[in-house]
Amino acid sequence: MRVLGIESSCDETGIALYDSEKGLLAHALYSQVALHAEYGGVVPELASRDHIRKTLPLIDEVLNKANLNRTDIDAVAYTAGPGLVGALLVGCAIGRSFAWALDIPALAINHMEGHLLSPLLEENPPSFPFVSLLVSGGHTLLVDVQGVGEYKLLGESIDDAVGEAFDKTAKMLGLDYPGGPILAALAEKGTPDKYLFPRPMTNRPGLDFSFSGLKTFAMNTWKASDQTKQDQADIALAFQTAAVETLAIKCKRALKKTGHKTLVVAGGVSANKALRARLDSISQLNVYYPRPEFCSDNGAMIAFTGAMRHSAMVMQDQPTFSARPRWPLDELSPP
Ligand code: KG4
Ligand code: ZN
Repeated sequence: MRVLGIESSCDETGIALYDSEKGLLAHALYSQVALHAEYGGVVPELASRDHIRKTLPLIDEVLNKANLNRTDIDAVAYTAGPGLVGALLVGCAIGRSFAWALDIPALAINHMEGHLLSPLLEENPPSFPFVSLLVSGGHTLLVDVQGVGEYKLLGESIDDAVGEAFDKTAKMLGLDYPGGPILAALAEKGTPDKYLFPRPMTNRPGLDFSFSGLKTFAMNTWKASDQTKQDQADIALAFQTAAVETLAIKCKRALKKTGHKTLVVAGGVSANKALRARLDSISQLNVYYPRPEFCSDNGAMIAFTGAMRHSAMVMQDQPTFSARPRWPLDELSPP
């Protein structure tokens, strides 16, 4: 079965074709970073309009790469939430219309499930059960994963997501947009142990996170410093070290609680090298990540999730669709 995947939940248009027998056939991604850069963050209306411009040409590009025609597609998987409602509606409308016109089934995919399953696209995939750490711009989640659609939420952020905290701290330090990866690159030039930032909520039991205080701590440290280039790098490193250590402490706790020996990390922040190095250093643990290009939003994870849920694919009886800007992962069920 060849599944076309469409991702348009935020500021990236991602398209891919996944074959349940042959694996990933082709994928293409268009990032709107340049479009939103002058505003210092994603402008939802501009994002929606750009998805409209890019989705169909990207579908043609992916079909060309795979040497296939539209009629070779067996099913369509599109992100229906969570995300920006206008941006989601573009992918939903195009995905549903495609399926309707080609008389093939379609399926609404949860974006966070896409991230969660993305490491399974790699050559040596993890096997169930495992603990999943999902770290993106909108979410910080620890999930007990028993199988596809069998998700129990162990912990989540009570305020900013970790990616959001990276982005806000970067902005406050005067770094360019998008801040997370730029802050991470700058941290490599920081002086180790120059500053010690707190590890929020690690001194009390539980698996929830809080990252907004860390961002404020970084801001106060920056204001009290001479605000030189080196101060900027030192604060970036202290912030990153604290965020990474906090995530590592909670991961260890979640593994102990569930008894699982496998940790699967995904979402934009899973590209962070310091986070990978720290989690890899935990003894007697198998850690899995997506390849770097599939850490951020992409169509491959949506096409793949569609293929994993092929039995739930439905033919439409009506040309209707809906998006779910909020769609908690633990509302999903197995296919
Ligand atoms: O998964 P994603 O592409 O989009 C969402 O679903 O949110 O994640 C984007 C987030 C942004 O906050 C971005 O700054 C962060 O991931 N990010 C990073 C790195 N690369 C991306 N944060 C820290 N270090 C990185 N290397
Ligand atoms: Zn995402």
